[in-house]
Amino acid sequence: MAQGSGLEGVVAAETEIGHVDGEKGLLIYRGHWAKDLAVRHTFEEAAHLLWHGRLPDDGELNEFKKKLVAARTLTPELRRLLDAMPKRAPLMNVLEAAVAALAEEEPAGPPSVDAAIRIAGMLPVAIAYRHRQANGLPWVEEAREEGHVAHYLHLLFGRPAEPAAVRAMNAYMILTMEHGLNASTFASRVVTSTGSDLHSAVAAAIGAMKGPLHGGAPSGVLELLEKIGSKERAEPCLRELLGRGERLMGFGHRVYKTRDPRAEALREVSAALAGDDPWLDLARHAEEVAVRLLEEFKPGRKLYANVEFYAAAVMRAVRMPAELFTPTFTAARAVGWTAHAIEQAANNRIIRPQSVYTGPWPASSGEAPVR
Ligand code: CMC
Repeated sequence: MAQGSGLEGVVAAETEIGHVDGEKGLLIYRGHWAKDLAVRHTFEEAAHLLWHGRLPDDGELNEFKKKLVAARTLTPELRRLLDAMPKRAPLMNVLEAAVAALAEEEPAGPPSVDAAIRIAGMLPVAIAYRHRQANGLPWVEEAREEGHVAHYLHLLFGRPAEPAAVRAMNAYMILTMEHGLNASTFASRVVTSTGSDLHSAVAAAIGAMKGPLHGGAPSGVLELLEKIGSKERAEPCLRELLGRGERLMGFGHRVYKTRDPRAEALREVSAALAGDDPWLDLARHAEEVAVRLLEEFKPGRKLYANVEFYAAAVMRAVRMPAELFTPTFTAARAVGWTAHAIEQAANNRIIRPQSVYTGPWPASSGEAPVR
């Protein structure tokens, strides 16, 4: 494995959770098309599928919802921790600390679905709490019986969200729940493989997620679209950026060498949400120009819009502040991280690859003389 290969093409796990076919642009969650789940099912149903291996029947769904609702709360200890973190601390760092702290309240034992539910339930509440606190807005912890996504938006904005916004964000959060052995999921499996706890696995995954080459891209997309500003400016602006050797945020993917199916699904969802929104019109035009220019500047690399490109359009249409894009991605992907941790622990062997030493050898040969 050559230096800088990024482990490309290396198979590091067998999984029943999800399948990504980058050549054909396919994404499967446990035998179901992710795209179908995103438009026909709820966050709760998709999470149940990833954690338990099947879509729930009515009774199972009710039980599952009850557990998730119970988890949507800030314990006094967690609230104190969130209050104590510096006001300027980036939200991803706050979430990392919050998840790690939650481990204290969990019974010891291997990663479990119940512990995963508690993490997935807590994250949106912690995001909303910090967001409202940072903006001097009152905190109202209400309407916990709503659907998971509706509840998140309600907490964030302090009022019930429009059904179209809930549908779009539900689709986004399902489409980003799971994605094979991406960097953060791999981090979660590596930590789990050492016998460590689920919370440490998720905290490590959050650390991986916040990087701009992974989950940190959507706010970069927003900046890109703001920089472009108008359809007329798309070609000169993108040409200038590529001419300077810059990467276009929201384009390219390690696995997809064709259109990212999640971007396709979100493109449709965002169209239904925003109608003739000029911003969406700009995004569609910028995508066309970018794909053409990427082929010109990077011939043969097969660079297309990835999920982050249309995620930014959807989130902007629901008025989600840019600093919440990556945390929201995190609240969704936590389902995939924990599903993989549970799977890893069930059939574990420590993940311990090798490296090739390329440094100098000691000047003397053989072992040091014994004195
Ligand atoms: N803009 C311009 N050029 C690009 C881009 C881009 N967005 N992405 C890749 N390239 C070029 C890159 O410069 C390289 O060119 P060359 O062969 O001349 O050196 C070639 O394409 C291959 O790039 P790479 O870095 O080897 O590809 P990778 O598989 O290591 O990286 C990536 C994948 C997603 C990190 C990369 O495409 C990228 O940086 N994209 C922008 C950031 C982004 O949108 N990230 C979100 C990814 S989707 C969310 C997720 O699943 O995590």
